[in-house]
Parts: sequence; structure tokens; C-alpha cells
Amino acid sequence: MNIRIKLALATAACAAVGLSVLGWFAFAPGPLAFAGGKSIALVDYKGSSPTGVPAEMVSSDLIARGKYLTRAADCAACHTAKGGKPFAGGRAFKLPFGTLYTPNITPDVETGIGSWSGAEFVRAVHNGIAKDGTRLYPAFPYASYTMLTDEDVLAIKAYLFSVPAVHQANIPSALAFPFNQRWLMSIWGVLFNPNERFRPVPERGPEWNRGAYLVEAAAHCGECHSPRNLMQAMDNRHKFAGGSAEGWTAYNITADPQSGIGDWTPAEVSRYLSAGHAQGRGSASGPMAEAIDMSLRHLTPGDVAAMATYLKTIPAVRTAELPPIAKRVTELQRDDAELAGKRVFEGACASCHAWSGGGSAIPEAALTGSRAVNDSSATNVVQMILNGTGSVPLGSPFMPSFATGYGNDEIAALSNYVTGRFGASASRITAKDVARLRALN
Ligand code: HEC
Ligand code: HEC
Ligand code: HEC
Repeated sequence: MNIRIKLALATAACAAVGLSVLGWFAFAPGPLAFAGGKSIALVDYKGSSPTGVPAEMVSSDLIARGKYLTRAADCAACHTAKGGKPFAGGRAFKLPFGTLYTPNITPDVETGIGSWSGAEFVRAVHNGIAKDGTRLYPAFPYASYTMLTDEDVLAIKAYLFSVPAVHQANIPSALAFPFNQRWLMSIWGVLFNPNERFRPVPERGPEWNRGAYLVEAAAHCGECHSPRNLMQAMDNRHKFAGGSAEGWTAYNITADPQSGIGDWTPAEVSRYLSAGHAQGRGSASGPMAEAIDMSLRHLTPGDVAAMATYLKTIPAVRTAELPPIAKRVTELQRDDAELAGKRVFEGACASCHAWSGGGSAIPEAALTGSRAVNDSSATNVVQMILNGTGSVPLGSPFMPSFATGYGNDEIAALSNYVTGRFGASASRITAKDVARLRALN
């Protein structure tokens, strides 16, 4: 969540940036500006509602609807610590200038949000203002959630108030000056939180509008996949052109066929979002695997298809550093560095991944075709080696962590070997680069 927390950098930038720049920001396009057409208020929209739960669930009770929406918005991911109780908070976000912890959002009256009214809860989710008026950092993605309808936010509250109350005090954030000046977030909010509910675009049709609501308001894909402007707000001029999350790269998911997902079929996008893997496209790891595991795989096939429909319309933006995906394995020159990487691969990786990179009888373990392997910064490849990947709940085969088994120099040589053999071009990372990523975990 590193980069999203870096949003707090906005505090510093707020003070530094001049009025002309503010003007440029103030006229920045909204999240749906690319769509053309005329966006309208929800009440004026005719046809099936793009908000709320899918049609097959409309007669479910409030708590069941709230549970679905809570999953779609993935509140649990950030508000649950590793090994902690669901929604009890305490997940740490390590920043260069301190650490921020998520609060307890279970219905415990003393330590959670049990005493919050509906209006207080809605204000927090739309505007980042806590019950006592405290300004919250946009690491809490309210700049996206602000598009959720009041009704959906209240359904989420109803569900959260039905989960077991956990008595667990919040851990105060420990941020250095000036990042600890919470009031500065009110300026950030004025500039970068549109504080406007979702406005559908009738010309685009019901499936697109449903997808837009899920992608933008609930699933907050842009919080990871969009680059940030100088003040750490999502840059809609380069919408979904690639961002970062917790030391991982969240790749370009625009329609660009070379560096984005322009040549993925809608079925491949749906499969990746609901199963964490699409044949020939690689598997989701790290923060993306978590989003799929806790959130996206619980959505109905219709909702996932709607998200894919919407995603396919995001205008192409080329990321110059990302090459076309390699079509075949490259036999490397046998220099010393390559041999060092190859030796580790032979001992630790080849049994599962095969020399062809096709994954020995495990399609999820294919290295060829994966964007991470075709990214010559090797950032995500190093993260996968350090953290392992695959998920038991997802039912996919598992890759263990190699963080303790190998030193930074070995992991660097291995990553350079893997990207060179199975990807478009070999990375040239060093032990120092691996150490930097290790420190983020
Ligand atoms: C990307 C991580 C992330 C996600 C996803 C997320 N939150 Fe949070 N949330 C935070 C952080 C971080 C804070 C604390 C911010 C601060 O201290 O300024 C927070 C604060 C809150 C607060 C204020 C609580 C208090 O005691 O002040 C509420 C309420 C809340 N979140 C509810 C939700 C709900 C509901 C969802 C899902 C719709 C959600 N959050 C999803 C990160 C997240
Ligand atoms: C918490 C951050 C985060 C969120 C939220 C998130 N993603 Fe991702 N996403 C990532 C990361 C990191 C990767 C790279 C994963 C990897 O290399 O295995 C990724 C990868 C992807 C890919 C594969 C790209 C490729 O070229 O291989 C797609 C498609 C994708 N995300 C779509 C989405 C959509 C759609 C949403 C919202 C429904 C979303 N993501 C939400 C972080 C995130
Ligand atoms: C026990 C079997 C196993 C071993 C050993 C193993 N892996 Fe994996 N690896 C997997 C599986 C399974 C996946 C796919 C997990 C998933 O579904 O997300 C994977 C995924 C990957 C990916 C991501 C591919 C993509 O789609 O983006 C990379 C890169 C990777 N492994 C590299 C390595 C390296 C380097 C080693 C040696 C240090 C290694 N693996 C050892 C089983 C293994």
C-alpha cells in the first residue's frame, strides 16, 4: 500500500506548489471524462441501476447486500492485520516518513466504530472525515469511494455492524512532521476529492455503466493502477497507465496492445480477475492476488464481465519502458553472471517451472507470457521470489518464499536470468536493488 500511503506526501506538496499548478490540477479530468457522452445524475438514469448489488441479489436482505458490497470495495484487505481478526485494523503501512496503521472498523463501541451514526459513517467513506472531525489520509481510498451511493455505503455499514465486535485499541500513527499535520488533508480533499456520487453515461449502455461503478467507486482499481500527480492524487490524464502498490508495480491496464492489456480478450480479463490466472497471460501475485482473493473472485460472473467490458474502453497509453511480451525462450550468452543465475534456477526453480518456462504440468506456473517476467525492472519478479506467490483459498498451486534461502546477490542474478531467458530482455539489477525491496516487506 506504500504508494497509496505516500498520498500523505500531499501534505508537503500542498505547501510547496504554486497557484498556477493548482489551476492545472483543478481542471484535471474526472474519472469518466474519457468516455465522452453526457454523464447524468443517477436519479435521471433510465434502465437497470448500475449501483447496488447485481440483479440476482436485489431481494436479499440488507446484510447480505452489504456483505457483497463490502467485498466489492475490499474493506477487509486494509482493515485486517496479517493473522488478525477481520476488520479489527492494525495493518501497518510502512512509509519513508513513518508508519500508518488502519483503525478498527468492527462494531466495538469503545475501540471500533460501534457508536458511529449512519451519517458519520457516510461522511468518513465519502470525505475522509472521522467521527470526531479528524481528517483521514487518502491512503483510505475515499477519493474513489466518494462515488458510492449513500444507500450502498449504509448497506456496507449494516454488514460491518453484523460482524463480531473486536475489542482492540487502534495503534496511533507515527508520522514525522509535516506529514503528521492531518488538517492539511482538508486542502487535499478540496483539490482532489470530487465528493460527487457516481454519474452514469447513458450512451455507453447498462453493462458498461455497471462496470464503471464497480471499477471506479467500489474496487478502486485506479488507486493502484493509475500514476500519481505531484500531489499524489490519481492522474486521470494517464488513467490506468501504471502505478505501484507496496513495492510492487501495478501494470498498465489501458487498451495499449504493447504495454497494456489491449490484446487481451474480454474473456481473458474476466478469467484473470476472477481466477487470478489467464492462460498465456501469467498469474496474479502480491497486492493483485490479494484483491482477487478477498474481493474480485466473490463477485458474480455478470459483474466481472461488466468490469471487463468497461476496462476494454480505457484509452490506450503507451508505457515506453515496457517492451512487447516475448514469444519464445532466449538461450543466453554463458557469462559468469548468467551462470550464477542459471545455477539457482536449476536448483530451486526448474522442477516447477521447467526450462521451457511453460510450468511443468501447472499452467499457473508458466513464466512465459507474464508481464512481470517481461518487465526489465524485475521488480515484481524479485517480490515473487521474496514473498512466494499463489494462494490456498484461490485453490491455485503454491510457490514458497525464497527470502531466507538465498542472498541478495543470488536473487539479483536469478532475476536477471529469469527475465532474460523467459522475458523480452534481461534485467540488470544488483544486490542493492534486492535489499531495497526486501526492506519494504
Ligand atoms: C487501501 C486501504 C484501505 C481500504 C481498501 C479501506 N480503508 Fe478504511 N482506512 C484506511 C486507512 C489507512 C485509514 C486510516 C487513515 C488515517 O489514519 O488517516 C482508514 C480509516 C477508515 C475509517 C475511519 C475510522 C476511524 O476510527 O477513524 C473508516 C470508518 C473506514 N476506514 C472504513 C472503511 C470502509 C467501510 C472501507 C470499504 C468500503 C474501507 N475503509 C476500505 C485504509 C483503507
Ligand atoms: C492493491 C493494489 C491493486 C488493486 C486495488 C488492483 N490491482 Fe491490478 N494489479 C496490481 C499489481 C501489483 C499487479 C501486478 C501483479 C503481478 O505482477 O502478478 C496487478 C495486475 C493486474 C492485471 C494484469 C496486468 C498484466 O499486464 O499482467 C490486471 C488486468 C489488473 N491488475 C486489473 C485490475 C483491476 C481491473 C482492478 C480493479 C478491479 C485492479 N487490478 C485492482 C495491483 C492492484
Ligand atoms: C513448488 C513449485 C515452485 C517452485 C519451486 C518455484 N515456483 Fe515459481 N511459481 C510456482 C507456481 C505454482 C506459480 C504460480 C502461482 C500463482 O498461481 O499465482 C509460480 C509463479 C512464479 C512467477 C510468476 C509468474 C507469473 O505468472 O507472473 C515467477 C516469476 C516465479 N514463479 C519464479 C520462480 C523462481 C525464480 C523460482 C526459483 C527460486 C520459483 N519460481 C520456484 C511454483 C513454483
